[in-house]
Parts: sequence; structure tokens; C-alpha cells
Amino acid sequence: MRTAGTGSKMLEYETILRDKLTGSRYDHVRAVCTCAGELADLYGIDRENAELAGLLHDYARDMHPDDLLRIGRARKLVTCNVEEQVPVLLHGPVGAVLIKEELGINDIQVLDAVALHTLAGPGMGRLAQVIYIADLIAVGRDFPAVSHLRNLARENLDKALLECIASTICYCLERRQLIHPQTIEAWNFYSIGNREEGI
Ligand SMILES: [Fe+2]
Ligand SMILES: [Fe+2]
Repeated sequence: MRTAGTGSKMLEYETILRDKLTGSRYDHVRAVCTCAGELADLYGIDRENAELAGLLHDYARDMHPDDLLRIGRARKLVTCNVEEQVPVLLHGPVGAVLIKEELGINDIQVLDAVALHTLAGPGMGRLAQVIYIADLIAVGRDFPAVSHLRNLARENLDKALLECIASTICYCLERRQLIHPQTIEAWNFYSIGNREEGI
């Protein structure tokens, strides 16, 4: 992580996150920050923004589900009854609102990346794609497909995004969990896009 330029802000955010998150979650956001920075360099996107979004993506992850739902309802972030059943799904959009209000983050790409990192969505920007992928493949993640996804992320970001969405949907189905329609929309959107481009 850089320590010059925005470095002092990053240190300030790290201190805030250490208070907000459990120890293992803090390690996770640091790992996502590093992974997002590496992917940013590979794909020519702004590294500082990627590290910032990586660090802050789980800002609201350790909030109580009742609080996530209360804020989600108040800010009209609840889009369907899946979030009512699984309030933790709101930690992305709620986190985006809170880092804007509490930390003064105004960069729309960073806010979108934080908002979309759990559910994905059609038409994500490159930064949001990088954070979605980094969240799944960062150091500390351990599931059967993770090494394949790590290799793919370094070869082809579009393919990696599609496979990460597929992996998430399969994970939910295998556990008979609810699947948010936004994730299905993302799957269809990028699946059709990849087919048209012959990827
Ligand atoms: Fe998250
Ligand atoms: Fe995360």
C-alpha cells in the first residue's frame, strides 16, 4: 500500500476500520486492498482508488443485521424481499452511504465498487469489477476454485468476473440459500456480453 500522497488518509481509515471490524475482517480488507492494487496495475486502472475501495469495501460488514435493515429501509436501499430475509446483503450499499457521509468519500467509482461488491450488477465499472473479484480471490480466501479464479483474474478480467459470479451463485445454490435477483441480472448481462465478444 502507498504511504505517500493519500497515504495519511489511508492510515486514518485503517485506524477507523480496526475499531469497526473484527480482527479477521480487518485482515481480509487489508488483503483485498493489496489484491485490488495488483489487479489495478495489471488492468490500467487507478491504483489508489482500487486500494481505497478495497480497504473500505466491508466498512458496514460487521454491523448488526437490524441496523443494516433499518438504514437500508431509511435510505431506500432495499430492492426486494431477499434483503429483508438476508440483511447482511445490504452491507455493500449501506457501506457506500456511510463512507460518503462519515469519511467524506465522494468518488463515484469507489462508492459504486463498495455498493456492488457483494451482489455485483449489470454495467459495473472496471473498479467495481476489480473489487468484486478481489473480494473473492484475496489472500485468506479458501475454497476449491480459488486458485483457478486467481489465475484467471491475472489473465482475463472479463472471464474472471463471470466465473466469480458463477462461483457465488453456485455457492448459494449448494447451500440452498436465497439468490438476489441483481446477481442473476449480472450473470445474464456479463454472460451475454462474453458470448457476443466470443470470450
Ligand atoms: Fe463484503
Ligand atoms: Fe469482503
